[in-house]
Amino acid sequence: MAAEADAEAIARIYNEGIADRGATFETEPRTPGDIARGLRERPPRWPTVVVEREGGVIAWASASEYRSRPCYAGVAEFSVYVERDARGTGAGRAAMEALVRECEGRGIWKLVSRVFPENEPSRKLLAKVGFREVGTYRRHAKLDGAWRDTVIVERLIGEAAR
Ligand SMILES: CC(C)(COP(=O)(O)OP(=O)(O)OC[C@H]1O[C@@H](n2cnc3c(N)ncnc32)[C@H](O)[C@@H]1OP(=O)(O)O)[C@@H](O)C(=O)NCCC(=O)NCCS
Repeated sequence: MAAEADAEAIARIYNEGIADRGATFETEPRTPGDIARGLRERPPRWPTVVVEREGGVIAWASASEYRSRPCYAGVAEFSVYVERDARGTGAGRAAMEALVRECEGRGIWKLVSRVFPENEPSRKLLAKVGFREVGTYRRHAKLDGAWRDTVIVERLIGEAAR
């Protein structure tokens, strides 16, 4: 599980992903303070995990509320980000496997997210860790003024996977 002391590394890794423009509609970098506040204020139901190598954080993954309606209490949105220099070395897989374990322990039954169609590393990783591509949202939002599609992904976990 992530601690507030990981906030600086989490922000740095997230900001690389934001700057690359390949993973998210977010364009504003996060400060370590933003991340620390999020970790502090986020209900314990929604975990953030980190992957460490040689004493440093190289990846993180987190789950957050999908919808506030009670019927969707077991559905979580997730994000996963790996430091640029560590991509393709198993860290994303390790982060997702750890996140699934944490979510199953909290009774969460489904993880969902959206991926840009061009984000092959993410689509490959998610397929390898058991996600299904549900379909494509067309023109889901604009990034830097350009319409972008997103591929919806889901994985049943815990009780729903049995
Ligand atoms: C997408 C991302 C999280 C993947 O994590 P990663 O650590 O690079 O992936 P891993 O090394 O754990 O690879 C997991 C699997 O996906 C496959 N894979 C990963 N990158 C790949 C690529 N570029 N081409 C083909 N396959 C790839 C690997 O072969 C591996 O399969 P295996 O375990 O059977 O060998 C990472 O590249 C990243 O942070 N990218 C920028 C941010 C981002 O796109 N986040 C996701 C937003 S939806």
